[in-house]
Order: sequence, then C-alpha cells, then structure tokens
Amino acid sequence: MKKFNTMLVTCAFPYSNGEIHLGHLLEQIQADIWVRYYRMRGRSVIFICSDDTHGTAIMLKAKKMKISPKQLIHCMQKKHKNSFLQFSVVHDHYSSTNSQTNKDICEHVYHIIKKKKLIKEKTIDQLYDTKMHMFLSDRFIKGTCPRCKSINQYGDNCDFCGATYNAIELLNPISVLSHSSPDIKNSKHLFFKLSKFSEFLKKWINSGVIQTSVLNKINEWLSIGLHSWNISRDKPYFGFQIPGYSDKFFYVWMDAPIGYISCFKELCDIKKTINFNEFWSIQSKHELFHFIGKDIIYFHSLFWPAILEAYNYRKPTKIFTHGYVTFKGLKLSKSQGSIISASKWLSYFDSDSLRYYFASRLSNTIEDIDINLYDYAYKINADIVNNIINLASRNSSFLKKYFFNILSNNIKKVDLYQKFIDETIHIQDLFEERKFSLVIQKIRYLSDIANKYISKQKPWLLIKNIDNYDKVHDLCSLGINLFRILMIFLKPIMPKLVYKSELFLNTSLLWNEINQPLLNHKINDFSCLYTRIKICCLDSFLI
Ligand code: MSP
Ligand code: ZN
Repeated sequence: MKKFNTMLVTCAFPYSNGEIHLGHLLEQIQADIWVRYYRMRGRSVIFICSDDTHGTAIMLKAKKMKISPKQLIHCMQKKHKNSFLQFSVVHDHYSSTNSQTNKDICEHVYHIIKKKKLIKEKTIDQLYDTKMHMFLSDRFIKGTCPRCKSINQYGDNCDFCGATYNAIELLNPISVLSHSSPDIKNSKHLFFKLSKFSEFLKKWINSGVIQTSVLNKINEWLSIGLHSWNISRDKPYFGFQIPGYSDKFFYVWMDAPIGYISCFKELCDIKKTINFNEFWSIQSKHELFHFIGKDIIYFHSLFWPAILEAYNYRKPTKIFTHGYVTFKGLKLSKSQGSIISASKWLSYFDSDSLRYYFASRLSNTIEDIDINLYDYAYKINADIVNNIINLASRNSSFLKKYFFNILSNNIKKVDLYQKFIDETIHIQDLFEERKFSLVIQKIRYLSDIANKYISKQKPWLLIKNIDNYDKVHDLCSLGINLFRILMIFLKPIMPKLVYKSELFLNTSLLWNEINQPLLNHKINDFSCLYTRIKICCLDSFLI
C-alpha cells in the first residue's frame, strides 16, 4: 500500500432545511467505516463535510419559521454535527457553504472561468409567481405532463412517463407556493459552457473513476450532448451574490461543490500541516474521494469535474455512489413524510447497531437498501450478542474463576488461530473495495467456527479434572484471542463496542499487531459489552 499521500474523503453536504435521517447516515457511515479502516492501516486520511446552506427551499423554510436564513442554517449546522457525532461519524472539519472562505473561492472560480470566456449571458423565459414575487424553480411548480398528460408533475420531469422538459412546457402550471397560476417572464442568466468539456469528460469518466453500473447512465447523458448550465438565480434567493450583478445569485449547485475546496482550505488554515495548493494542483499526488447518493451523479460526474478542469484544479480520484435507503420500498423523503430521523433512531436503538446493520447490507453497488427492522434485530442479537460477545463472555468466565484473568502463554489449536490471521488479507481487500457486507459475512463465519470449536472442547467438563487445567487455560485464552481478532476487524464498523472491548482486553486493538496474540496478559473482568435488541422496541418504533 502506498503510504506517502493524503486521502481526502468527502460526503455530500446535507441541506440545512431538514434533520439528518437514515439516508444521510448510510452515506456518512459508509464513508466513516472506510476512513477508519484506512487510518487503522496507517494511511493519512482527512474526512470532511459541510452543511449545504443555500437555495430557495432554505430561504422559504426560514421565512415559514419567522427567522432569518442565517439563524436557520446556524442552528441546523449544530444539530447536524451533533447527529453525526452521535453515530460516531467524526469529520476532521464540518463547515458551512455560507462561509467567507467559500464565498471568496466561489468568486475566484467565477472570475477565472469568466476570464476564460466560459460564461455566456442568455435571456430565458421562466415561470414567475406574481403573488410571491419570485421566479419558480422546477420543484415549486406542478402541472400536467406535456407528453402523457398525467397531472401533478413537477417542472423538470414526469414521474409517470419519464419525460424531461422545461417548466414552461408544463400544461396548466400551478405554483406550489401560492397555488396561483404563474406568469411567464423573461430574465437574463449566466450559463457555464459545459459542452466545451464534452471531450474531456468522456475521457475522464471512462478512466476508472466511476463504478461501471453508473457509467452507462453518464455515457448516455454524454451521447445526448451537454447543454450550457445555468449557474445564476434571480433574487429573492439565499446565496452568494454574483459579482457585478445586484439581483443575481450563484445557483446553490455552483457553490456547494466548491464547498469541498473551501472546507478543506479552512482545515488547512487551522492545521497548517497540509499544503492546500499542493493538494489541489493538477499534478497532485494526493487522492480525493467523494461519497454520494445516486440522485446527484450528474452534478458530481459532469458539472463538478468540468468546473475543476476550467479552474485548472485536480479532479476526484474516485466517486463512490450508493443507492437509497428505503423503508417499505419507499425512498426516505422529507416531502413524503417518510424520513426516519437520526434522533428518532436513537430514542429506540443505539448507533453501533445501525452501523453494523448498514455494513451488513452495503456493497460497492448502487442498489437500494430496504430497512427491515426484524432482520436488523435478528442480525444484532444473533451475530453480535449470541456469537461474538458470547465468545468473550464464556471464555472470560473460566479465566476469571481459575486463572486470575491472566491469559496463558500458549495459543493451542494453532491452525484455527492461523485461519483467523489468514483471513486478514481478504478482509483488507473487502474493506478497500467497500464490500462491507462480505466483511460481515466473514466475521460471522469466523465467530461461528470459534464458538463451535470451544463448545466441542467442553471446557465446563474439562475443568472438573485438575489435570486439564492447563488445557482449559490455553483453550479459553485462544477464545479470547480469537475474539480480539474479530474486534480488530470490527473496529471501523462498531467503534463504541470495540472501545469497550479494548477496556475489557486491557489493550488497544491495532491492525498492524493483528498477528501478535495476547500472551501472559492480564485482562479485565468481563462486563456486559452489548445488550440485546428487544423485539417490543421494534413494535413501538413502527407505530
Ligand atoms: N446538498 C446536496 C449535496 C451537495 S454536495 C456538494 C444534497 N443534499 S441532501 O441532503 O439531499 O443529500 C445529501 C446526501 O444524502 C446525498 O448524497 C444524497 O444522495 C444522500 N441521501 C439523501 N437521502 C437519501 C436516502 N434516502 N438514501 C440514501 N442516501 C440519500 O443532495
Ligand atoms: Zn408524462
């Protein structure tokens, strides 16, 4: 493994107008596991995120709450940070796209791309809500699909027939905000000449930076041809004003990805040890990884690299896309009232169990993950409590009663121990490829054979004969050492459980010490490391 460069890992920035929910957490936990794994392997990893604070939805939400957008985003940022920490998702820096750094960098990017003549002005017709005195973005217009005539469709595409269109083509449009029928009004806008980057994007996209399952869709977009991208919005809008225009603001999707740069810049300014320019330079040896959901592929795989190319900055090393968390088959969504918030989860269950459950379902594909709470409870109770923790508790009870909690100097049944060690290399590959469900499968398999082996030896019978004391001592010490290896494998996934296990084992669990068993080592008394999920909790959660 290359050791010298830094990995910068990002998650997509949650919008400031809602709570953190299980959909956000899937992405953050996926990235956090990957980050923790690489750190255990000795890599230098920086993990950052921010709140995405701009746009019409946030402006309207603040208005509804009778507070200023700044008050809203300030309060949400605190809540979001706290939610992530409660799930052991620890960012090196958690910023806001509304920061001065982001404003400065945005303006600079704009200045450079304008100087390179990559911006053009064009006057376009848009729907205007005369009651609200504002232009309506696609999500705030509903009407009849011009193609299949289904009613109640949004201004950008039809859910029923899949047609994409311009909002002014909708039949009988109605403003979602005032329920009035909007006028058509024209306004001048600024467009980024995306099509100039078609060749670059074709090459870049097909250079191994994107999962193959996502690639087809992007190549399809590229073959249809890229349009210039409108990066401006009219007032009223909560965002950064575009230099030289008193009534125009940068579209939120312009300043949000630039937030990756500015969030990192703020960290560099705090830490002073990382060289910001070196990281973003076109020849950078460092690596940049974005974790995103499949709804924002277009922005990350086309707009974002094109902007970086225009600005002469390095491009992402990889973009990792995941599917949606669904519940009873539906995407968790605020608008449909089907979100499961981080705080609701924590009022019933704990954070490590969600991390484990997500890991047991996650792979490097974009398949959706439907949450099944009974499956969740079964997995935690069977794998973690009955199998893994049981391995520690049953062996530690003999060690305490007969051997003063001191592990023997002998690991017997070396082949079983070696089998565990031999799995390390496979588990490493699986972590690196983000095939976490297979990591869990291996852990489950190993804990199962360890328990079966101990059961077969029947230490509770052996101990009745004093001649077998050494044998039992070695056997239980082996059990504890196998538990130790499993805990090392689980450390990126269940940090709270593993922390407690470290206290019990009286040692830190380090990846590079995996094949050094604890011999002649004093452990602590076993105390409950994890409690079972109660089925009655599931029932009340589901009400
Ligand atoms: N603000 C933009 C991202 C800007 S990045 C420069 C955004 N925000 S979001 O709050 O809607 O979503 C943040 C991330 O969470 C996205 O990657 C999104 O795909 C992911 N998820 C939001 N709901 C989700 C599910 N129900 N399931 C899985 N992930 C989904 O997009
Ligand atoms: Zn339609």
